[in-house]
Amino acid sequence: MESARQWIYSLLFFIFTIATLHVLDTLIISTRLTTNYQNIKLKKHPHLPLRFRSDGTFKILQVADMHYGNGMVTRCRDVLESEFNYCTDLNTTHFLRKMIQIEKPDLIVFTGDNIFGTSATDAAESLFEVFAPAIESGIPWAAVLGNHDQESTMNREELMSFISLMDYSVSQTFPSTKVNSDSKEQQPMTNIDGFGNYNLEVWGAPGSYLSNSSILNLYFLDSGDRAIVHGVRTYNWIRESQLSWLRGVSKGFQVYNHRDNGSMLINLWTFLRSQ
Ligand SMILES: *[C@@H]1O[C@H](CO)[C@@H](O)[C@H](O)[C@H]1NC(C)=O
Ligand SMILES: *[C@@H]1O[C@H](CO)[C@@H](O)[C@H](O)[C@H]1NC(C)=O
Ligand SMILES: *[C@@H]1O[C@H](CO)[C@@H](O)[C@H](O)[C@H]1NC(C)=O
Repeated sequence: MESARQWIYSLLFFIFTIATLHVLDTLIISTRLTTNYQNIKLKKHPHLPLRFRSDGTFKILQVADMHYGNGMVTRCRDVLESEFNYCTDLNTTHFLRKMIQIEKPDLIVFTGDNIFGTSATDAAESLFEVFAPAIESGIPWAAVLGNHDQESTMNREELMSFISLMDYSVSQTFPSTKVNSDSKEQQPMTNIDGFGNYNLEVWGAPGSYLSNSSILNLYFLDSGDRAIVHGVRTYNWIRESQLSWLRGVSKGFQVYNHRDNGSMLINLWTFLRSQ
């Protein structure tokens, strides 16, 4: 008799446990474990193509060598002794945010040493912080790397991939080439030295007769980090593969524009960093 009752209690307890787990699962656990595809955050894209304004201007804000570390705990270098205690990476952020507000550029270009590898303990975190003012502004921005960017937790390829996936970034790890001359499909061209070689087209002002054409072509080249040449430690340089890509793209634009109308303007503006 006693054992039968125990048996029933055990059974009831078992059923109660299962029921409780089931309720918990449907109400709390399963919603946290399964992915709701509607909530996945995708990269925010800027409005493209880049274009001249109706007044014929296109303003670029170029920023180099922010040398961002760990934010508030990383002190400024090369400031007066009296300023040292009151200057951190946050001053750089403040300055950049102010420059963007004052200048209202059409494109922001970061030319390397964006983060300072030896002070940045987590490259991704420092990248989020250093580019935050550009991302907040919603203005398209592009970046290339310096020699200090990769000294933290990511190599140059990882850095460029990460940067190209950030909101409003128009940066690319590799240049893209058309699959064939008539196709609109693009493929990354990976057989080139460096990470962060790409070009950006700037089209004519809306409503103008050049509104459907690229009239300014901006080239971004990766000048690499360090190198040892004949036992001497020096900086790296632009390789032939990069130049030949640049010549090819430039030639393509000349042919294209000649066919359309010989009067179009080709400007060659190359973003490089001097180390
Ligand atoms: C950095 O920012 C702080 C807080 O705004 C300010 O007090 C300080 O003067 C700034 N330092 C420099 C060197 O500009
Ligand atoms: C540009 O392309 C749009 C859409 O295809 C077209 O309506 C417009 O007339 C074109 N403008 C010029 C100047 O070619
Ligand atoms: C081509 O250029 C000429 C000036 O040389 C200009 O008058 C004409 O409108 C242009 N045509 C087109 C389609 O852009």
